[in-house]
Amino acid sequence: MTSYQLRAWLGERVPVADIVEALRRKRVPEHRYSIWYYFGGMTLFFFIVQVFTGGLLLLYYRPSAGEAYESVQFIMTRVPFGWLIRSIHAWSANVMVATALAHLFSALFLHAYRRPREITWVSGAFLLLLILAFGFTGYLLPWNELSFFATRVGTDMAGTVPGVGHFIVRFMRGGRDVTGATLTRLFGVHVAILPAIATALLGLHLFLVQRHGMSVPPSVWEESRRTGRATASIPFLPDFALRDLFAWTVGLALLAGLAAFYPWELGVKADPFASAPAGIRPEWYFLWAFQTLKYVPASVFGVNGELLVVAALGIGAALMVVLPFVVPDRPHARRVLVWFAAAVLAYMALLTFLALRAQGGGPTP
Ligand code: HEM
Repeated sequence: MTSYQLRAWLGERVPVADIVEALRRKRVPEHRYSIWYYFGGMTLFFFIVQVFTGGLLLLYYRPSAGEAYESVQFIMTRVPFGWLIRSIHAWSANVMVATALAHLFSALFLHAYRRPREITWVSGAFLLLLILAFGFTGYLLPWNELSFFATRVGTDMAGTVPGVGHFIVRFMRGGRDVTGATLTRLFGVHVAILPAIATALLGLHLFLVQRHGMSVPPSVWEESRRTGRATASIPFLPDFALRDLFAWTVGLALLAGLAAFYPWELGVKADPFASAPAGIRPEWYFLWAFQTLKYVPASVFGVNGELLVVAALGIGAALMVVLPFVVPDRPHARRVLVWFAAAVLAYMALLTFLALRAQGGGPTP
């Protein structure tokens, strides 16, 4: 069979030509904020890295309290390039949270959540929550001291929810305390349940992005209306795709540098019967919430302080998801939203800084 015949055979069965044709027609707006269009693609790149390196780690990792720590030790010392794959997986997880946050805030500041992209936003917001859940469930898997006690603190927080809190804690831990049962449970969530949901949501998100094309921010649109000049744009193929690829290459170089010069540490094996050591902390992206808990008094007007923080976080997450439906598409409302989001961002940055300063160290490892 010649290559022409092979292409004709494939083309008849898989509509590749139609997809390429659609991408060929696609154009991406070019303006002073265009740089932010690359963060979704970079998040996608780190997601792919996670799937690939996670699959390799699965070949050697053992999800039980008796073997987890030793299996990670084995990966790092005996498996060829095991240390590199583990380090890339851990670093990529962290960089991905950062790019996903940058992507979310840029979509918000550029008002890309507006009609007809509401569902693109909602699927993205759920993806961010999933990424955080990936981080939380993956943290315990090496079964080291730091992650063991941080998981105990993290799961404890759910216990403050009135009525169902006790049930949620038991459900997350697979028992009363953090044990091997918790590890097996979080492992299942980390490698099967979350990837399945994330893949489906990501499919929807990317489909909608292709369907609607990239949005033009209201200020840029206003400007082109005032001047009577159409907003500039570049073709997706090959111009934008090549720039995207360049951003991916930068991401890969960053990961290689971080993994090679700062290999992810394993720490000491968890001892569930030991008392919690000093300096227990979650991953950097949960630090601001962790620090908030420290400042809120045990009781505020007779209400449990921890419960207030958990409630505020829950309401904040819910508002983030439904944002396109609660913010009217009017200039004044958009301005209020920008100031509100900037205040939230400043609060998160300040509390993360205070938490790091209190610990006298940088982010994990
Ligand atoms: C796994 C996580 C995510 C991946 C892989 C991802 C991927 C992408 C990609 C590739 C694009 C097109 C390029 C771009 O605008 O950057 C995009 C657009 C978009 N994403 Fe995401 N995204 C993720 C999470 C999120 C989050 C957390 C939000 C916000 C809640 C979000 C909201 C949006 C919106 C509104 C657009 C359309 C932007 C526009 O038309 O200007 N995404 N996403």
